[in-house]
Amino acid sequence: MTALPKTPFLGVAYYPEHWPEERWKIDADLLHEAGVDVARMMEFAWDKLEPESGEFDFAWMDKALTIFQEAGISVVLCTPTPTPPPWLTSQYPDILRVDDKTGQRAVAGSRRHACCNVPAYRDFSAKIVKAVAERYGDHPNVVAWQIDNEFGCHGTVRCVCDYCRAEFQKWCERKYKTLDALNAAWGTQFWSATYHKWSEIPVPAPTSASHNPGLLLDYRRFSSDSWVSYQKMQIDLLRQYIGERPITHNFMLRFFDLNYRDFAADLDIVSYDNYPHGMSGPSECAFNLDLMRGLKRKNFWIIEQQTGHVNWTPFNPPAPPGQVRTWTHQAFAHGVDAVFYFRERAVNIGQEQYHAGLLKHDGTPDRGWHESKQVKADLAERPALTRPQAPVAILWDYEDLWTFELEPHNSAFSYYREALDLYRTCWDQNIPVDILARDADLTGYETVFVPSPALIDEAQVQKWRSYVEAGGNLVVLFRAFFKNPGSTWSDQPMPAGGLSDLLGMTVDEFLSIPLVPNVGLRPPIDKADDWNDDRGSHVNDVSARPGIGFGENFGLPTKTRYQLWAEVLKPTTATAILRYSDGYYKDGVAATANKVGQGTAYYLGCWCDPILPRVLWQALGLQKHVVTSDVRGAVTEIVKLVDETGQNVDVLLNHTKHTVTLPETSK
Ligand code: GAL
Repeated sequence: MTALPKTPFLGVAYYPEHWPEERWKIDADLLHEAGVDVARMMEFAWDKLEPESGEFDFAWMDKALTIFQEAGISVVLCTPTPTPPPWLTSQYPDILRVDDKTGQRAVAGSRRHACCNVPAYRDFSAKIVKAVAERYGDHPNVVAWQIDNEFGCHGTVRCVCDYCRAEFQKWCERKYKTLDALNAAWGTQFWSATYHKWSEIPVPAPTSASHNPGLLLDYRRFSSDSWVSYQKMQIDLLRQYIGERPITHNFMLRFFDLNYRDFAADLDIVSYDNYPHGMSGPSECAFNLDLMRGLKRKNFWIIEQQTGHVNWTPFNPPAPPGQVRTWTHQAFAHGVDAVFYFRERAVNIGQEQYHAGLLKHDGTPDRGWHESKQVKADLAERPALTRPQAPVAILWDYEDLWTFELEPHNSAFSYYREALDLYRTCWDQNIPVDILARDADLTGYETVFVPSPALIDEAQVQKWRSYVEAGGNLVVLFRAFFKNPGSTWSDQPMPAGGLSDLLGMTVDEFLSIPLVPNVGLRPPIDKADDWNDDRGSHVNDVSARPGIGFGENFGLPTKTRYQLWAEVLKPTTATAILRYSDGYYKDGVAATANKVGQGTAYYLGCWCDPILPRVLWQALGLQKHVVTSDVRGAVTEIVKLVDETGQNVDVLLNHTKHTVTLPETSK
């Protein structure tokens, strides 16, 4: 079996089914010349592999694999299940999912139109997976497998068909054992919704008013679990045929409908699709990369990397010269072992004709191809580098995020944005951050931020207490530990579940603050074309950005504003470290510090702007981790890595459009 190339390496998404056979060798040679070592294939090719039910055609794929092998490119094969072909959905129309937002059933001819709880879809998926695994499981040039493609993309995670309803009822029965337990957990007495039979439990299809929050939260868990089990079904099948070859699946940016931690647990390698134009700038790219690295606390792959314009943002600008190279090196610096460019060539058919590839529509090299070649040359000169554990961690939890998405109480409140704001506070100063699970082992971290941990978990408090007692700085932010797992509100003062003892305070009152535009707040980041909202960008002049100094004024004004959410705190054993200076709650406590053992547990009761007020920045001693550059204002990200001999190596990433000449000492 061909081994995986030495890391880091380059790859590409290749679609033999989109091109005439005569072209495959030309493409393989061109891609090899661009530095590509591995090609990913087959994820949307179900109808070509199985043109009719049970009739398989592998001749074309055999040929493509041989051609790529001869060109020196090994292959990651995908199971082709995101695109059930029309012969299948017309024979089994129930396969088509029913959308939870609209109640509409999907139609054929697109992708991700199937529901994973429909037995026919599972059976036919298993058949095609088994067929490709039997055929290619021990192919000498196949080095890894990808399951399906981007579960849940286009907002397709939650289906409300009859199969889902039956499965959800069974899921509830397994979870709660008795209806009394379920009714209590969800608080179904409200609006007279006590269930007396499992079969009475509905799915959250569109209805008159909102559904019970406990049902909604459990439906998110159930839907995520359903796709986890669909993925597991494929993994178990594949494993019988592919030996030790690693199995991956590609996760998405800014995507939270699935609990990716559960998916990652069953995979050998996490893969991620990096489309920076879907984000607001390099800091958000970095955040998403670090989020992915944290899922398994190990290096991962980018199995789709934007190579030019995409076709799905409002304006689809180009990726100017140097941008693809920078994105690729940013990924490597954040713990990526392989970057696969998406895609080999701009396609002349179908839904994505406006999407750039390494080659142009006419088959000649585009800018991305030249930059891939350049990256390959860069890698030849670069020593093997690893990313050490960061001094700071942010604890990220999908269920907390869901809890706030379902009941934000303030339409501008975003758990994602909160975590991202915390991250940016560090990224702006080149302080490395790891993003970990809420229950992660925190050994070795100096400071740990816990963005709004909504859901109460008493066992968690013990872990945090040990961390603080041993000398850690724990910073818990507003809206903490007030919801039971079934989304009913605790009858204890916030934060409940013993967390208030650790923090030495309780919350006396909470206030939602309407978002007033243009008062110095960062704009909301949920616009796909918001790339300019950051230091540095491909179109923006970094020096024109006010308020964020580089290596001097650490972005922290002396007077702290707050926004969106504020809580008035009652310290018990803690000391007040911030007080409100206005409002009817003037002089009320806004943040506290509680010494516990060798460390301190902080509580920040309001969303400051910037999110980390100076007093906390100082108390946490973050200043000592700030990394500045002598190429001020231009190099916008510095990542500290370590080479094989243990020497520190700084990777300097220039996210601006300006050319920078480094002083001799920095080279
Ligand atoms: C990804 C997807 C690819 C392609 C690409 C376009 O999300 O996995 O198949 O659609 O987007 O940018």
